Amino acid sequence: MLGNKSINKDNHLEIAGCDVVSLAQTMGTPLYVYDEALLRSNMQEYEKSFRENYPHFSLAYAGKAFLCSALCSIIKEEDWWLDVVSGGEYYLASTANFPVEKIIFHGNNKTNEERRLVLREGVGRWVVDNEVELNLLLEEASSYASYKVPLFFRLTPGVDPHTHQYITTGKIDSKFGFLLGEAENAILKAIQSEDLEVWGLHCHIGSQIDHIEPFLKAAEVMLQFMVDFRKKHGFVFRELDLGGGLGVPYTDEEKSRFPSSHFYVKEISEKVKEMCGELSYPLPRLYIEPGRSVVNTAGSTIYRVGSVKEIPGIKKYVAVDGGMTDNPRPVLYGAKYQAHIGNRVAGEREKVSVVGKCCESGDVLIEEIELPSPSPGDVLVVEATGAYNYSMASNYNLIPRPGVVFIREGEPELVVRPENWYDLVRRDITPLE
Ligand code: LLP
Repeated sequence: MLGNKSINKDNHLEIAGCDVVSLAQTMGTPLYVYDEALLRSNMQEYEKSFRENYPHFSLAYAGKAFLCSALCSIIKEEDWWLDVVSGGEYYLASTANFPVEKIIFHGNNKTNEERRLVLREGVGRWVVDNEVELNLLLEEASSYASYKVPLFFRLTPGVDPHTHQYITTGKIDSKFGFLLGEAENAILKAIQSEDLEVWGLHCHIGSQIDHIEPFLKAAEVMLQFMVDFRKKHGFVFRELDLGGGLGVPYTDEEKSRFPSSHFYVKEISEKVKEMCGELSYPLPRLYIEPGRSVVNTAGSTIYRVGSVKEIPGIKKYVAVDGGMTDNPRPVLYGAKYQAHIGNRVAGEREKVSVVGKCCESGDVLIEEIELPSPSPGDVLVVEATGAYNYSMASNYNLIPRPGVVFIREGEPELVVRPENWYDLVRRDITPLE
């Protein structure tokens, strides 16, 4: 099992001390459930590791992994920054009273509306992704912003992290960021502008990365760029943001495959200190932007089993009341998950396929898993769904998206209500009779 889970005397699964059977009964299914204490301790572990290893740093949570107002409050309380990648994420954070001066604003194609909103309301660091964006910013900054816009420049360091190709971003062939050779002139233009302030550089090489070397390589390329730039132009970058990307286990089998956040922080800190020492470069303030490694293990999805179909000698399909609409990752990336029968954790097992309710044969959540004789009415719990599930959910087949519960000190609290059918039709414009 992953995270803070246990089996109680009734053979039920408990998440952070909460019986999933009563959760399913009282809150309904499907339901995203987060263990708040685990989520916070993941954040605190990062914080502690940096304190032990690096003099000045800022931790930014990548909101694309999972974001809601209740989480914004936690990020604020833990004193983290927040990385947003759209006007929508920015809007959610600002309406949840998250301080805009701690927001890092990303995006490879920020729209007029997004740019102008953020310029007007304020931002901690604006990550310039490309030349077109920089030119727009140079035109707009003085009219929309009453402050010098604090900038990072996103570079593609040309490092291949060997993860799924859809979540690789730092290679030369990427839609994100400036090529190293092209960044120089753009950065100089920004340095010369009265309306912009260049603080540092940014890179993000990919996601669900299971070894440290590509992060170290990326840090090396970025620092070398900083050193070369100083040599040519006499300008010192005060900050360096190495993005997110640390992977986490999704199943018990994968538990030993991933470096801990502590090891990751220690290694990148040492690399930066070592290179800065050798090249006599002032230590930049270091930022990282973890998403998945903060929230994934803290989240699970609770479903109710409905139809069970056995094809003798071939397969047993166990269908739940959600599927690719609340978790598109198996379909998109071939992601593997593990699950339990929440009302009968221990028991004689059989091989089954867990599928969703969408009108699509590919709607398979778990291709093959051994579970104790799943039957209609059982509660099925899929583990490690905290990242890129809620945030990537859809309304395919007009299926409402599940609500979100945070478990706080053993008590469940609904922090996002489930969608209802009315939510699905309320944007339709009724034709005039
Ligand atoms: N910073 C930037 C600029 C990013 O693009 C990302 C993720 C992160 C930080 C956070 O990365 P993390 O620590 O979560 O790996 N939908 C895919 C993941 C896409 C990640 C996109 N960028 C999935 O479900 O695996």
